[in-house]
Amino acid sequence: MERSLRLVQLTLRITALLQIVGGAVIWSGHGAALVNAHAGVGLLFVLALWGLAALGTRARVGPGLVIRAAAWGIIVLWLGMVQTRMWPGPPHVYVRVLHLIVGLAAIGLGEALGARIRRRLADAAQLAATY
Ligand code: HEM
Repeated sequence: MERSLRLVQLTLRITALLQIVGGAVIWSGHGAALVNAHAGVGLLFVLALWGLAALGTRARVGPGLVIRAAAWGIIVLWLGMVQTRMWPGPPHVYVRVLHLIVGLAAIGLGEALGARIRRRLADAAQLAATY
């Protein structure tokens, strides 16, 4: 479990960084060629978030955060896939801001869930060492 958690957390962090940097380049107007790669890395990011949700379920961290992370992954993916067609023209900037906020919130949820799983594993290890 520890190894899988490390791998999934690393994937989440690397893909999150790529999404923020790639997104900034796309936003600056110089990254049209990056859009497909950004969407592909975005899919990997969401798979890592779902992987954390699965590990959270296995580690029994409680359903609240696990369900929120899993559901947020669906929202990130859905918005990423439809956003280019949403509110064309000047109001499109709101869609871009929303996409960024939803993505950053997903990163926060992934970090919170990863930390919760780590605490849970540490507690279980301490309990096992005591008895
Ligand atoms: C951590 C997750 C993500 C972050 C932080 C992020 C961030 C960004 C940012 C800052 C932009 C530039 C502004 C904009 O056009 O909205 C962008 C563009 C874009 N993103 Fe993401 N993104 C994430 C995930 C995804 C996912 C999962 C998909 C697709 C499934 C996706 C698809 C797109 C597309 C298609 C664009 C270009 C939109 C346009 O040309 O108007 N993104 N992203």
